[in-house]
Amino acid sequence: MKHIVVIPGDGIGTEVTDSAVEVLKKIDEIYKIGLTYEWKDAGGASYDQYGVPLTEDTIEACRKADAILFGAVGGDQWDHLEPSLRPEKAILGLRKSLGLYVNLRPVRIQDSMIEYSPLKPEIAKGTDILIVRELVGGIYFGKRCESEIVNGAEQAWDVEKYSVPEVERITRFAMEAARKRKGHVTSVDKSNVLASSRLWRRTVIKLHDEEYKDVRLDHMYVDNCAQQFAIHPSSFDVVVTSNMFGDILSDEAAVLSGSIGMLPSASIGEETSLYEPIHGSAPDIAGKGIANPIATILSAAMLLRYSLNEDKAADAIEKAVNDTLEEGYRTGDIYREGMKRVDGKGMKEAILAHLG
Ligand code: IPM
Ligand code: MN
Repeated sequence: MKHIVVIPGDGIGTEVTDSAVEVLKKIDEIYKIGLTYEWKDAGGASYDQYGVPLTEDTIEACRKADAILFGAVGGDQWDHLEPSLRPEKAILGLRKSLGLYVNLRPVRIQDSMIEYSPLKPEIAKGTDILIVRELVGGIYFGKRCESEIVNGAEQAWDVEKYSVPEVERITRFAMEAARKRKGHVTSVDKSNVLASSRLWRRTVIKLHDEEYKDVRLDHMYVDNCAQQFAIHPSSFDVVVTSNMFGDILSDEAAVLSGSIGMLPSASIGEETSLYEPIHGSAPDIAGKGIANPIATILSAAMLLRYSLNEDKAADAIEKAVNDTLEEGYRTGDIYREGMKRVDGKGMKEAILAHLG
C-alpha cells in the first residue's frame, strides 16, 4: 500500500485536489498500485479551525506519508494576520520541516498550445525548461528583522545565506535530471554582486568538474536569464537556482506557456515529497466549479513518477490530459472560440474518460 496525504488548503484547492484524487483512484483501478488517502488541513482552513496555519498533526501525517498532494493556500480574509499566522506559512513550514529541498517546475510549450503563449510562435516553439529551485535555504529561511530603529530610522532586513553542502545537493539533483534530458544545465546567480552567489557559482563549477563533465554547464546572471527566457526560451534545458531567484523565474517561465492553470510542480525531499499546482488559491473563482484542474492532475502524475516509481501510470495521465486538450476541451482560462467549453468537472470527466 502507498499512503497519500491530501491537503486541499484554501480557495480552489479543494476542487482541484478532489479532481486529482478521482484521477488517482481511476489510475489505481487500472494499475493496481494500492493507494490509500488521508485528508489534512493547512493554510487559512487550518487557521480557522486551530488558530495556526500548520499543525503538528498535519506535519506528522505528512512525515509518514509516501507522498503529499497539495492544493493551494491563501485568501483575502487572512491577509491582515501577522506573518507567522498567514496561510503562506503553511507551505513554507511544510517545506522546511519535511526537508523538501528541491522544487521542480517543468515548463513545456506544446505545439498544440503555442497560441496561448504571449510570445511569437517562432520564439515559443520547442520550449521545454525544467526549473530546479533550491527550496529550504537562502533568503526565505535566513535571519530576518521585521523592524528596528537605527539612527532614528526604522529598518528591516533579511539575510541570504548558502552553504557548500546546500549548493552541492541541489546542483547534483539538477545534473542528474539533465542527464535524463538534453544534458544541459544553466546555473543562475548574481555573482557580480552577491557573495552568496559567488560561493554558489564556485560550488557548481567544482562539482561539475569533479563528477559531471558530460553535462554542458553554463552560468547566467539572474537579470540576463529573465531576458533570455523571453527571447530564447527554447535554448534552455535545466535551470538550477536559489530559492528566491527560482521563485521569480518560475513565475516568468510559467506565464510563457500562457496557461498557468496547467503547470504542475514537485517539491522533493529525502523522506517524502509534495506535489502541487503552480497556481494559487484563486479566491475570485473559488467554489464556482470553473477552476482548471489540469495542473493538479499533472501534479498527481508527477507524484506517481517521482515518489512511487509508477512511470506507466504517470505517462497514462499525461497522455489522457494531452488527448483531452487535443480534442478541444477547454476550461474558461484557456478557452478560445470554436473549442469545447467545460467547467472543472467537465474537464475532469473528459480526462477520466480518456484514461478508461
Ligand atoms: C511559490 C509561492 C510561495 C513561494 C509563497 C506562497 C510563499 O509563491 O510556491 O512559488 O514564494 O515560494
Ligand atoms: Mn512563487
